[in-house]
Amino acid sequence: MTKLWGGRFTKEAEAWVDEFGASIGFDQKLVTQDIRGSMAHVAMLRSCNIISEEEGEKLHEGLAALEKKASNGELSFDVKYEDIHMNIEKLLTDEIGEIAGKLHTARSRNDQVATDMHLFMREETETIIAMIRDFQHVLVSQAEEHTETMIPGYTHLQRAQPISMGHHLLAYVAMLDRDADRLQDSLKRVNISPLGAGALAGTTFPIDRWQTAETLGFDAIYENSLDAVSDRDYLLEFLSVASTIMMHLSRLSEEIILWSSEEFSFIELDDAFATGSSIMPQKKNPDMGELVRGKTGRVYGSLVSLLTTLKSLPLAYNKDMQEDKEGVFDSVITVKGSLKIFTGMIDSMVVHEETTAKAVSSDFSNATELADYLAAKGMPFREAHEVVGKLVLHCIENDIVLAECPFSVFREASELFEEDIYETLAPYQVVSRRNSEGGTGFKQVREAIRKWKERLAIS
Ligand code: ARG
Repeated sequence: MTKLWGGRFTKEAEAWVDEFGASIGFDQKLVTQDIRGSMAHVAMLRSCNIISEEEGEKLHEGLAALEKKASNGELSFDVKYEDIHMNIEKLLTDEIGEIAGKLHTARSRNDQVATDMHLFMREETETIIAMIRDFQHVLVSQAEEHTETMIPGYTHLQRAQPISMGHHLLAYVAMLDRDADRLQDSLKRVNISPLGAGALAGTTFPIDRWQTAETLGFDAIYENSLDAVSDRDYLLEFLSVASTIMMHLSRLSEEIILWSSEEFSFIELDDAFATGSSIMPQKKNPDMGELVRGKTGRVYGSLVSLLTTLKSLPLAYNKDMQEDKEGVFDSVITVKGSLKIFTGMIDSMVVHEETTAKAVSSDFSNATELADYLAAKGMPFREAHEVVGKLVLHCIENDIVLAECPFSVFREASELFEEDIYETLAPYQVVSRRNSEGGTGFKQVREAIRKWKERLAIS
């Protein structure tokens, strides 16, 4: 009998049926978590006198040997043993003999797989938070370098008001900060031990769930055994935050793609983060940005997929839940890969300051300034809006920008205009004057950079 659960069966499934049910193809990713979980379980069985000292030692030595082999890539798994848990038990049997059968005392694969996934999710969440921090550092340092680089700010993708490029980049620092916060907060729900819940109902053995929890670095234990083996909320939560991170990156992707186009030419990507065309020799394509934008869909897919898998599942464990892993594993790889690419890409991008300077002085994005000018002198804002709208129309008809408009034209539009109007229209002035808290004024941006450096401990 090859099956670890074969006792009740009179007939073996055909290999292709076994293959369909197997998860070893992907859950072998959990090998170290599985072994560590087993080691903690063995230590607990021993201290609760559920197994003898000698048995405990044998099991521990066998698991340690497997751990070593795993880290050297020397373990090979067999689809015949379905999943990582039974493969490890089989390998342990090869290592130390039939005594390996004691390992599964007072435990089920249901609490075991949940424990493995909690350990995995904790490690990856911490790694992703650290990667977000690295990316924030790069964004803050580009923001510092480009505090006084002005670009058109857009609404509806139409030029709206000139802004500091640093201010624009800091908007992403803030978004990513919320993502890191969400991940940090999720750890409260990730770092809980399901071990000891058994298949669903607990166990008759006098186990100590707090011991295993502490050994594995968990902060708490699930209070309800059914919940412990059925809960996949923490994975949904991860996928939801992962989707939000990807959504943020896809928005930045879109801007990087636009900004590096010939039409914008605000930036140039480093050759290391761009590709050429096999037919058009002049091309430099922002593939990495496009790929991140594209991969966003995969992560959303995994979130919806798991939500759908879990919908209507009765308690407690159902084999459907085996489907929780691939989407989560894939999303972890995707988010980490995307963050790494963006960190390098933004760090190495070059800003074309002549083009951005030209962009902000050759448009009407200073029109609001003019309306504010009149409003500050007492004209109701609605009326000022109308006056400036007419001036803009005059300029368009004469193919000039506001700064090129003769003073007589301003005066005709309103008596309130004085000679200082030209100074007011200069983009640098326009940006500087938006000094309300959180605005794009250079003083505000410098203050924001100071705060981020403090919060992110950047020296
Ligand atoms: N491979 C399974 C999974 O990933 C492990 C738990 C199996 N439990 C069971 N009762 N069949 O979900």
